[in-house]
Amino acid sequence: MIILGIETSCDDTGAAVVDGLHLRSNVISTQRVHRRFGGIVPELASRSHVRLVMPVIREALDQAGCTVNDVQGIAVTYGPGLAGSLLVGLSVAKGLSLARGIPFVGINHLEGHIWANALAHPDMEPPFVVLIVSGGHTQLVLVRSWGDYRLLGRTRDDAAGEAFDKVGKLLELGYPGGPVIEKTASAGDPGAVTFPRAFLEEGSLDFSFSGVKTAVLNHVRALGVEEARKRQADIAAAFQDAVVDVLVRKTLAAAAGTRVRLVCLAGGVAVNRTLQERMARRLSEQGIRVVFPPEALCADNGGMVARAGAFYLSQGRGSDPDLAPCPSLNFQ
Ligand code: KG4
Ligand code: ZN
Repeated sequence: MIILGIETSCDDTGAAVVDGLHLRSNVISTQRVHRRFGGIVPELASRSHVRLVMPVIREALDQAGCTVNDVQGIAVTYGPGLAGSLLVGLSVAKGLSLARGIPFVGINHLEGHIWANALAHPDMEPPFVVLIVSGGHTQLVLVRSWGDYRLLGRTRDDAAGEAFDKVGKLLELGYPGGPVIEKTASAGDPGAVTFPRAFLEEGSLDFSFSGVKTAVLNHVRALGVEEARKRQADIAAAFQDAVVDVLVRKTLAAAAGTRVRLVCLAGGVAVNRTLQERMARRLSEQGIRVVFPPEALCADNGGMVARAGAFYLSQGRGSDPDLAPCPSLNFQ
């Protein structure tokens, strides 16, 4: 079944084509307009999606070697995300679905991130635990079977990626913070400072990253601007170490508590090499396999949405035409 996937939940306009389990194209246009504001401006995001969505879809179809006439179903993110941005993708999907007389299905963006792993590792089978770490979300989810998800823990304040972005800003490294902090940290000593790790109550699988961000802010203030600039690499390394430490330990606890033998990483922060390596090392000591998607499938993309859609549409589980954007959609 040839499925077109559309992703417009945040600041990336994505479209992709999957043919059964096979990804035929995956086109992403990242909106650069937000960089100079140091964060995403929702109104600019939705306007950019309006401009970009059709060219991106056309490019995805071209690269897949097909036309819109070959598409048998459409998958589109309907939440969580920015209402105006979600509306753009959803409207296009509904329009194409009506015009072509083919089904469409609304996909939970977070579920899409999980399916990105299946694109990269078609052999993987539930049950497994997935750590979803992105700019908007940080959560641990138990996948009992495909389509059956249980939320084990979530952040109570900042998402991990959001903490990277905020610390990137206060270290004057620019936006988004994640990639540049990782690069800067590679020249630093993670033991130079010890930033706090929030483990919350005994047994909790929830996260909190606002404390570590405030600790970095206080440290920078105490050092003064000049000195903080000189020690940028050490501060970045120590901050990254603190975040990764909590993510790894909570994921290990989730895997132990659910007795799964497989853990997946998903979302934009999952490209972080320190996170990937420490997670793989610590979990393999317990006999647990760790997988993560390649970089292009970690960040927001249409491929993950198309793959999730292929699962539902192949079972005839499409959405109703009145499906509305759901900005705060989550797992139960
Ligand atoms: O999944 P994603 O592309 O978009 C959301 O759904 O949020 O994730 C973007 C987030 C940003 O916060 C960015 O700073 C973070 O992923 N990120 C990273 C790295 N690359 C991107 N965080 C840590 N290390 C990285 N190398
Ligand atoms: Zn995302």
